[in-house]
Amino acid sequence: MSDRFYITTPIYYVNDEPHIGHAYTTIAADVLTRYNRLFGKEAFFLTGTDEHGQKLQDTAASKGMGPKQYCDSIVTRFLNSWQRLNISNDDFIRTTEERHKDVVRHILQKLFDEGEIYKGSYEGWYCKYEERFWTEKDLVAGNCPDCDRPVSKITEDNYFFKMGQYQNWLVGYIRDNPDFIRPEHRKNEVLGYLQQPLGDLCISRPKSRLSWGIELPFDKDYVCYVWFDALLNYITAPGYLTDKAKFEKWWPYSVHLIGKDILTTHAVYWPCMLKAAGIPLPKTIFAHGWWLLENAKMSKSRGNVIKPLELADAYGVDPFRYFLMREMTMGQDSSYSEQAFVGRYNSDLANDFGNLASRVTKMISSYTDGMVPTPSASETGDKEIEKAASSLAGKVAALVDEFKLNVAIEEILQVVRLLNRYVESNRPWDLYKNGNRERLNTVLYTASEGLRIAGRLLYPVMPYKIEEFAGIFNLKVEELISEAASDWGWMRAATKIEAGTVLFPRIEKAPKAQGVVSAEKKAEEVAIIDFGDFQKLKFRVARVIGAEKVAGADKLLKLQIDLGTETRQIVAGIAQFYQPDALVGRSIVVLANLQPAKIRGIESQGMLLAAKDGNRLVLVSVDGEIAPGSGIS
Ligand code: MSP
Repeated sequence: MSDRFYITTPIYYVNDEPHIGHAYTTIAADVLTRYNRLFGKEAFFLTGTDEHGQKLQDTAASKGMGPKQYCDSIVTRFLNSWQRLNISNDDFIRTTEERHKDVVRHILQKLFDEGEIYKGSYEGWYCKYEERFWTEKDLVAGNCPDCDRPVSKITEDNYFFKMGQYQNWLVGYIRDNPDFIRPEHRKNEVLGYLQQPLGDLCISRPKSRLSWGIELPFDKDYVCYVWFDALLNYITAPGYLTDKAKFEKWWPYSVHLIGKDILTTHAVYWPCMLKAAGIPLPKTIFAHGWWLLENAKMSKSRGNVIKPLELADAYGVDPFRYFLMREMTMGQDSSYSEQAFVGRYNSDLANDFGNLASRVTKMISSYTDGMVPTPSASETGDKEIEKAASSLAGKVAALVDEFKLNVAIEEILQVVRLLNRYVESNRPWDLYKNGNRERLNTVLYTASEGLRIAGRLLYPVMPYKIEEFAGIFNLKVEELISEAASDWGWMRAATKIEAGTVLFPRIEKAPKAQGVVSAEKKAEEVAIIDFGDFQKLKFRVARVIGAEKVAGADKLLKLQIDLGTETRQIVAGIAQFYQPDALVGRSIVVLANLQPAKIRGIESQGMLLAAKDGNRLVLVSVDGEIAPGSGIS
């Protein structure tokens, strides 16, 4: 494994405000960078803005501004957003900067001199919104196949890059380098695209039609096609023309993180451009999926675009970062809804992680004078925790290398849940009450060391919150994320613990993030109950000891159930799904304190739980042997 990591995001068009799609890629790149650093690699993280082209020129004109003036006004929105979302990029590149224009001119001239670029006549259908030409057969109902807007027929002289000649080479390269295009299904998509003949690429626009671009060094009547210009940013920033050592240091480790819609430009145009210029290809191009809003594509015209800063304002930067990273399987589409957000926050952050942190620190503060105690001989359960926590960093590192951020986070949360169960089963409050000091110390040390290790590994996802978390252990965040701190036992006994920090207060009612049009509506539908309400519901495990059909009612079964301390009768509408005999002896889950009711004249003292999906119904059961009457919480 290499010890360097260079990651790029697409450079964003500045004719729009940052939205959740931009935020997702940028946060994902940030999280990957921070993980790589945490695991000891040196990293370089680049993002930036794409500032040339027709759309930009048109938008600026519509606002009565010059294009550069317009770019300057919008670029600050990106810069501010990334600052607010705690993005730790090492460089920010704008394609209007001289360092970039120099590289574009240099490559154009080089390819022109080497006969890789020629002048020809072009006739095609041009979409000014997507800034690309289409052939007649590409059009859908006469419109642009990408944006469905009208196209215009254009014939003009232009410059072409001899891309077609690289087709076979590219197919071979992609096949021989399995890490080049990821995930696998995107690689197959590109190979499918390359089964059609690959034409040459028109890389110029006549100034008479578009003036806002980088002038071709060999013909002042033309500017460079915006994609040819933009892709080169990836080599400008690490110093292709200006700093050979820096370029050689980073370029071989380059990973381009992109959205799936810009796969062809990255996985076909870009490798051919590099090959022609004699520059090695990037290590990996990883295309992620799209964020949908309640399963629909987001678009300005539908008014359902999610603005990242409003979400971060409503819920906090770190919960927002956490949700995006935990919820999306990188490579597939994912749907945003406020309900999913609140659900994820409350279950993972408030209940699992936040709760563990607050109960462990409170116990240390009440039982051991606020000091991490010295552990004694460990038992099987303690060793299980030590093993799970010690192997966690290795597992997370391997998953991060595979871009499986959501799985990596889930691994951490599994350990958090294990720790919560460990506390439950070791009952430190009883150990304290019974004066079992040695055991109490071991349990509290084990729980707090496990907590520290799990929290440390969440740092790349939630840097602000984990800084606060480090404070609980009286540590600076730099100490917590230092390499040595990954070892079990790094935390010394007698470390002073600060109790009382509530890292993730429960969201009781979904706050409104303005601008989240349909998510707002959804939030009104979510009935959030507080924990007190939930506690009123007494769910119990019950064993079925008798079952029979209810005469004259083909849907109903009458069950006799053992609740540990008593036997009850319940009536349930499950006759079409279960034979009475098959139920006897099974453990089921019932709501035991439901007001008794008469169903078809038969008393039902409780309700069983079942899951229903269309025409299927299955009973809710427990995952293992447990005594009838056991409570469920
Ligand atoms: N300027 C080009 C990129 C040039 S890179 C050399 C561009 N810019 S963009 O601003 O339109 O889009 C940037 C990225 O945002 C793309 O990767 C695109 O996939 C991503 N997203 C736009 N909407 C998105 C979602 N709804 N969800 C996830 N990402 C999406 O393309």
